[in-house]
Amino acid sequence: MQTTEVTHNTVINYGQTRILSDQEFKQFTDLIYDECGVSLSVDKRLFLESRLKKRMDELGIKNGQEYFAFVTGVKSKYHELPTLLDALMICETSFFRNAPQFDLFSQTVLPEVIARKEQVGSRLLRVWSAGCSTGQEPYSAAISMLEAVRYQPDWTLRVFASDLSFTALERAQNGIYRADQMKSVAPHLTRKYFHQENSNFVVNDEVKRRVTFDYHNLKNDNGLRNLDVIFCRNVMIYFDREEQQRLVNRFANCLMPGGYLFIGHAESLQWLSDRFTMIHKDKGIAYKLVA
Ligand SMILES: C[S@@+](CC[C@H](N)C(=O)[O-])C[C@H]1O[C@@H](n2cnc3c(N)ncnc32)[C@H](O)[C@@H]1O
Repeated sequence: MQTTEVTHNTVINYGQTRILSDQEFKQFTDLIYDECGVSLSVDKRLFLESRLKKRMDELGIKNGQEYFAFVTGVKSKYHELPTLLDALMICETSFFRNAPQFDLFSQTVLPEVIARKEQVGSRLLRVWSAGCSTGQEPYSAAISMLEAVRYQPDWTLRVFASDLSFTALERAQNGIYRADQMKSVAPHLTRKYFHQENSNFVVNDEVKRRVTFDYHNLKNDNGLRNLDVIFCRNVMIYFDREEQQRLVNRFANCLMPGGYLFIGHAESLQWLSDRFTMIHKDKGIAYKLVA
């Protein structure tokens, strides 16, 4: 009989294949937490087991202990650990996700930052999309920035976009999206910033050349400093409180005084940091670094 019950006792029968003992489940969740800050509680056990099984089947590995030894082995870990983390990432995203936040970005944050930069004679805007998934977030940011300076072409716009999923980054870099992924892009922006190839929509070079994609694990500092805005949305939700605190602290160090942090609608900075003050417009929320 096939059971899908998650018990605290030893193993689970998932899709007829028993994969992890309790001890192995803990070994894997500790490893994943240490490597990338993602905290997998017992209710994510089915999810973890199904992703592990897929990878183990690809490698012809039969049990959890053998795979654990492989993924942590001196020879294999530099390749296999990133592959495992990639397989575990949830990369759901969309263009202009959380429209009120993008309205706040376009109508309040960008005009303020642009005015501040002009006062000091700078014409450079730098934004980081941390946990950029398949690219919709950084491209949305770049499009918003292009729109904000459309009558002042002498501005330099830079969007740094990072993730630890290689597969997501590859798609992001390609910048090719199906029609159903374009629903949240206003028609005039689709016409202006995308072109069609067969039934797909491709990001125009004007946008692409403003965005630089890179592999980066948010457990580590990436050295970016004096940023105007950071988007890190729907990423912290997978971290525990301690990891969230460390991350937000690093973000504060990456931003200019008065820079802005956008987080996901289900995330909050309450209890995490007193270095930011919340601003909102309608339902859009952002956090401003207290100078
Ligand atoms: C749900 S997606 C969110 C994408 C986008 N920010 C948005 O809100 O639409 C979460 C992304 O965070 C990335 N991620 C999770 N943990 C990470 C880490 N430690 N370092 C870098 N990226 C991470 C995942 O690979 C995934 O692409």
